[in-house]
Amino acid sequence: TKTQRLAGKKVLITAGPTHEAIDPVRFIGNHSTGKMGFALAERFASQGATVEVVSGPSTLSSTHAAIHVTKVHSAEEMLEACEAKFDNVDIAVFAAAVADYRPDTPAQEKIKKSNNTLTLHLVKNPDIAATLGKRKKKQFTVGFALETTNEIAYAKEKLHKKNFNLIVLNSLKDQGAGFAHDTNKITILDHDGSSTFDLKSKQEVANDIVDVVCKKMGL
Ligand code: C5P
Repeated sequence: TKTQRLAGKKVLITAGPTHEAIDPVRFIGNHSTGKMGFALAERFASQGATVEVVSGPSTLSSTHAAIHVTKVHSAEEMLEACEAKFDNVDIAVFAAAVADYRPDTPAQEKIKKSNNTLTLHLVKNPDIAATLGKRKKKQFTVGFALETTNEIAYAKEKLHKKNFNLIVLNSLKDQGAGFAHDTNKITILDHDGSSTFDLKSKQEVANDIVDVVCKKMGL
């Protein structure tokens, strides 16, 4: 039946923001809540899949028996957790808003207020999707893109660069779409073309994404 079309399949989903430590009490983060990633987890599980969510700091969780959540803080921790799971999954969805940079060496003690300016030295974080994209074999992979200019062109570039099968473009220009909203408006692109969807709840958006994944996988 349609509801069990992912029976026996294993899915890895990254979700939420990452927090990059500045010192023991401060971090660099972003406004991602994890809503899209957790909505996807619920939908994949409802279709019979077993889901591993690797989530940055988020208030969200799941009580679904087929969803297992690993909580991490930083991009490096997220990569390590994902590397341990990636070879065993059939589908990987990279929905996390991973920080591009992190403070090179977090201070051991709380940084004291002194000078009028403070300079932080940042180094590039690993790209989790690109790293795993390089070693993918059977995995069907899905990425997200959030752009403000040349949306379609940048999304297509990422589709190729990160070796995704599909990329989901969030339309930031649309009211109610993207970060921390309960709704989202997406365009899904693959190597053959694209389809645009209406503004909907993140649950409904997750249903659309899972439908497209199943269709593309021939399930
Ligand atoms: O390059 P950009 O950050 O726009 O790419 C977005 C896609 O790549 C998302 O699917 C995101 O989860 C993933 N990504 C990642 N690790 C990073 C940066 C982005 O997995 N360090």
